[in-house]
Amino acid sequence: MAKAKEKQADFGFRRVPLGDKQALVDDVFHSVARRYDLMNDLMSGGLHRAWKAALVTAVNPPKGDSAFALLDLAGGTGDVAFRVADAGGPGTHVTVADINADMLQVGRERAAKSSHRIEFIEANAEALPFPDRAFDAVTIAFGIRNVPRIDVALSDIHRVLKIGGRFLCLEFSSVDVPGLDRLYDLYSFNVIPAVGRAVTGDAEAYRYLVESIRKFPRPEKFAGMIRAAGFRRASFEPMTGGVVALHSGWRL
Ligand SMILES: C[S@@+](CC[C@H](N)C(=O)[O-])C[C@H]1O[C@@H](n2cnc3c(N)ncnc32)[C@H](O)[C@@H]1O
Repeated sequence: MAKAKEKQADFGFRRVPLGDKQALVDDVFHSVARRYDLMNDLMSGGLHRAWKAALVTAVNPPKGDSAFALLDLAGGTGDVAFRVADAGGPGTHVTVADINADMLQVGRERAAKSSHRIEFIEANAEALPFPDRAFDAVTIAFGIRNVPRIDVALSDIHRVLKIGGRFLCLEFSSVDVPGLDRLYDLYSFNVIPAVGRAVTGDAEAYRYLVESIRKFPRPEKFAGMIRAAGFRRASFEPMTGGVVALHSGWRL
């Protein structure tokens, strides 16, 4: 009998067995963890700070003592978590969950030098180790495109949100501005892997990052996936000519 065709996933421009994708993604982030934050500044010319600031404004953590629980998923070195903790009051509690122990370790070291109490937990976005309705908000920045089964992760995010809770997802998107699209391609495929090689010694990791951006669904389609996972009032806001988009959905 013919063997059932194994499910495939995109790993950058390569098609790989679905079951192999996570290990390939993990290798990328093991390789770049120590230089990850520096590379974000170099690759985006500091723009990732403005994109993350827009995300934090949308999270809008309370300034006072009111309890507010945020899960920053695929939170890596805690870059978003620290920004939300800075913006929120003493009632704001931030949990970072990420599948990669090396990225989390960089975050824990950062937290030890700060005044924030942020929890770092090793977890897969497809099977979150949290009870139902545990969080007021869930954020994921530049993480969802790395997850092999995005639909599974979106359903689990919906499960762990409280009723009335908000999901916010910052992700690279589709540049539709004539001229900017060609410039962006030239920059992405030539400059980013070269800078990646110079700073981390790993051009391939950054080639994957660029390719995975191109394979990620267009924002209208991704908004549909958010809706299909049960979120209401799904919307998105393109930024920087569509280089990134901030997606939002509510559990109502
Ligand atoms: C591009 S980094 C983003 C880190 C951080 N959110 C930021 O914006 O600086 C992507 C992160 O997704 C994490 N990741 C990939 N697959 C994951 C999964 N299945 N579950 C949880 N995290 C995952 C990686 O380990 C990595 O830390």
